[in-house]
Amino acid sequence: MTSPRYAVLDGEIVRWEKATVHASTHALHYGTGVFEGVRAYYAPEEAELHVWELDAHLERLVRNMGVLEFREGPTKDQLWDATVKLLRANGFREDTYIRPLVFLGEGTIRVRPQTQRTRWVLLTVPLGSYLGKKVVSCMVSSWTRLSNNMLPPAAKISGCYVNSLLASLEAARAGYDEAILLTKEGTVSEGSVENIFLVRRKKLYTPSVSEDILEGITRGNVMDLAKDLGLSVEERRIARSELYHADEIFLCGTGAGIVAVGEVDGRQIGDGDVGPLTRQVIEQYDLAVHGKLVKYRNRLTSIYGTAPLPLEAERPFRETDPAEP
Ligand SMILES: Cc1ncc(COP(=O)(O)O)c(C=O)c1O
Repeated sequence: MTSPRYAVLDGEIVRWEKATVHASTHALHYGTGVFEGVRAYYAPEEAELHVWELDAHLERLVRNMGVLEFREGPTKDQLWDATVKLLRANGFREDTYIRPLVFLGEGTIRVRPQTQRTRWVLLTVPLGSYLGKKVVSCMVSSWTRLSNNMLPPAAKISGCYVNSLLASLEAARAGYDEAILLTKEGTVSEGSVENIFLVRRKKLYTPSVSEDILEGITRGNVMDLAKDLGLSVEERRIARSELYHADEIFLCGTGAGIVAVGEVDGRQIGDGDVGPLTRQVIEQYDLAVHGKLVKYRNRLTSIYGTAPLPLEAERPFRETDPAEP
């Protein structure tokens, strides 16, 4: 990866190389951070970068800071302001991934912090397709999805992602593209970094929020778009064997987009390709994130144009080290 020129550290735009923290940082030892993954899509015909669902992502991030009982940290406006400024500073002319992370910094070696400082970073990197394929193969992981009473999976806590990593490593070692994790009761939860939908007899099914999932923003988008298409969607418990009987399966997430699953545990799903309903949902999503559906245009934030910014955004940004790399 070629490094972007700038990052944000504690609200200041700094050169990428300067966005570093001390080895005693609490989050490095204990995974005590909350983060988001946001996407911006580049529209070459307008020479414009549009961020999809920025408000929803920042809202979720700020709410999740409360789950870890962070007493301080950036406000939604500060995060919004910094995101827009950083994207403008880096000036990418391609699809971009945005990673805000709020975490516990230096202060104590103990697990329970007393005077811990909350710090935050914001990174933006060019990123194309996450899984790199239109159709992926999956295995049901031998790792159980962590459950709500262990670590809240919905809170996007850094430490939770060791669960995703283990499942993803296992799947890759076994020759699959992605893992599907089950709850401790053995019902379907989600992919390592994506929510999951099944299609059966022209109807969509997805695990309920109580199934130890991250309640994905893309999952919500899929439900909205499916309704527009006249498709019915049901949130419920899904048995493992329903995966093998599905007509179609797809995974969805901000990073991954919407990706068809052609195989689970060596069993072909449908004809092993992108199914007809999955294709419709993918096409609608693609139109929405590229600003081609009027109904969803208000979920986009334009970066290089004259999009209205929250109050603080009018302040000129301070580059703590403006020198070129
Ligand atoms: C575990 C997990 N599930 C689902 C998702 C999809 O969430 P969203 O659509 O909000 O990106 C993610 C996203 O990174 C994730 O990490």
